[in-house]
Amino acid sequence: MTASCAYFVTGTDTDIGKTLVASAMLHNLAENRIRAAGMKPVAAGAFLRDGVLHNDDADALAAAASVSLPPELATPYLLREPASPHIAAALEGIEIDPRHILACYDRVVEMADAVVVEGVGGFRVPLNDSFDAADLAQQLGLPVIMVVGLRLGCLSHALLTAEAIAARGLKLVGWVGNVVDLAMQHGIANVETLSARLQAPLLGCVPRLPAALPAAAAAHLDFSSLPGWPVKPASRNPQQ
Ligand SMILES: Nc1ncnc2c1ncn2[C@@H]1O[C@H](COP(=O)(O)OP(=O)(O)OP(=O)(O)O)[C@@H](O)[C@H]1O
Ligand SMILES: [Mg+2]
Repeated sequence: MTASCAYFVTGTDTDIGKTLVASAMLHNLAENRIRAAGMKPVAAGAFLRDGVLHNDDADALAAAASVSLPPELATPYLLREPASPHIAAALEGIEIDPRHILACYDRVVEMADAVVVEGVGGFRVPLNDSFDAADLAQQLGLPVIMVVGLRLGCLSHALLTAEAIAARGLKLVGWVGNVVDLAMQHGIANVETLSARLQAPLLGCVPRLPAALPAAAAAHLDFSSLPGWPVKPASRNPQQ
């Protein structure tokens, strides 16, 4: 059940740029005419627009993707409360069932040549009493991209996340530094520290952008080292 290329995007925390990076990946794929779909299997925090429940992450991924998915496949669990998913689900009297997510993923894979799945919160956010986001990544069996929110404390968060990814038998195939704290001191030294310690390539660093648009983020990132990435870097001198 794998698309020709599919990735799981996780991060060092909530609110550190997973959606921005996942959208940048989808943008790059779509721009190169790859049939690309984005999934946010569990989203917590929804609002009503024209009588339909929406979530910012799900909408951002859909906007950047070239394959339009039925919302119930892109986000099998769209929860109203902006809280940890197991808490938001309990408030609605439901339990998140990983089998349902996997069934939706299998259908998405049939509809696209590339799939980008955004995790929820940090890597080990609980989804129900016995299952968390790391278990979901493991069951999907996807290579993982880690977004590091660059701020004080990110080194330990990043190294712990990388350890947890490896402990699940998953491969960290790339990481991104994303500036979340403009006042952070020694940002470059932090990135160098992680580059020396993580067994995965740095795909790039995204500065604080005037507008957090997928194309703007993609301009700072190079995904071509990702295994299976279908877009080759443009040749500098195609005539020669
Ligand atoms: N490099 C950046 N420059 C400007 N704004 C950014 C940047 N990175 C993220 N943001 C903004 O910060 C907020 C959090 O980013 P994003 O939604 O991508 O995080 P996330 O990790 O996906 O969060 P969640 O855990 O809720 O899914 C968003 O409003 C986004 O537009
Ligand atoms: Mg997000």
